[in-house]
Amino acid sequence: MNPALASLLTPALRLFDPETAHGLALRALKLGLAGSANGSDPRFEVQAMGLTFRNPLGLAAGFDKNAEALIPLGRIGFGFVEAGTVTPRPQVGNPKPRLFRLTEDSAVINRLGFNNGGIDTYLINIERRPRDIPVGGNIGINKDNAVPERDYPALVRALARKVDYITINVSSPNTPGLRDLQSEQKLRGILAAIADQVPEHPPLLVKIAPDLSPEGVASVVETCVAGGAAGMIVSNTTLARPKLRSPQATQAGGLSGVPLMGPSTAMLKIAARQAAGRLVLIGVGGISSGADILTKLRAGASLVQLYSALAFEGPALIPRLLDELRAALDAQGFPTVEAAIGADL
Ligand SMILES: Cc1cc2nc3c(=O)[nH]c(=O)nc-3n(C[C@H](O)[C@H](O)[C@H](O)COP(=O)(O)O)c2cc1C
Repeated sequence: MNPALASLLTPALRLFDPETAHGLALRALKLGLAGSANGSDPRFEVQAMGLTFRNPLGLAAGFDKNAEALIPLGRIGFGFVEAGTVTPRPQVGNPKPRLFRLTEDSAVINRLGFNNGGIDTYLINIERRPRDIPVGGNIGINKDNAVPERDYPALVRALARKVDYITINVSSPNTPGLRDLQSEQKLRGILAAIADQVPEHPPLLVKIAPDLSPEGVASVVETCVAGGAAGMIVSNTTLARPKLRSPQATQAGGLSGVPLMGPSTAMLKIAARQAAGRLVLIGVGGISSGADILTKLRAGASLVQLYSALAFEGPALIPRLLDELRAALDAQGFPTVEAAIGADL
């Protein structure tokens, strides 16, 4: 099947509750039903963190928490894929329902709470990973009995030879206290513990919340630079509720999708100005067109990721966005993706 055909079936998934639909989508991917699309174009190539990306569009964390479907996900055209969040021990997450479609707003609210099979299962699954594109591992801590200075280094050690970069997730809103780890003191402690306990590791990225203040963002940037992180991912889901039309808008949890494009891009720009070339930035939040990708690149992102738009549109999204990115580069006079990075700064 090709991605366009697979995407025709995506509306049928809306007949199911969102979490069942997600499970079916993962199963369809594993069965090879999503087909393949060409994600390579010399104009799209990005060099970052010592890695080569065939295009700048990656799959954001949360879609494949257990690293079950990375090969088929790579085949639908992504430039890279990030699996997780994985925690040290398996965890069931919050009671259902905990995932909501805000169709009228092209948005999603989730309060999954790091449901995942734990690092042991993840390590078995990640052996079946694409070799032709970079793979990132996104790590977090359990809800109970967590010790961040012990758990993050342990996960970095476990993944060090399995993935091409590691994302330290300190920004999911659904694990009580997790976002407090973005404070200078806590984050410095985590990065120091990793440097101390696992001196040899792949590039580290810190993923932040869009609800930080501008001063908070600046502080994370400086802590990342001082602590030896390679970059930051901006951003995770938001607890804010901009004007929304959907009846599900009052659900508790993190909001993602189109309403997040503006706030997350504004924050990306703040991070880019503060970092001034010292960090690699990955822009995430609300991407649903090729023009959105270019907007994030211009705001300082070297790479971008998405999740929510894929849930709405299915695998045909990726070739569509790459075609639109080509057109947007032409329209705005950029010969290549790399030429557009930071153009608005
Ligand atoms: C259902 C769902 C689950 C998510 N789970 C995770 C997660 O486990 N770890 C993480 O770092 N981000 C997670 N995210 C956040 C996404 O990676 C991304 O940062 C956010 O959704 C914004 O991008 P988008 O607007 O393209 O969806 C999740 C998002 C959604 C919608």
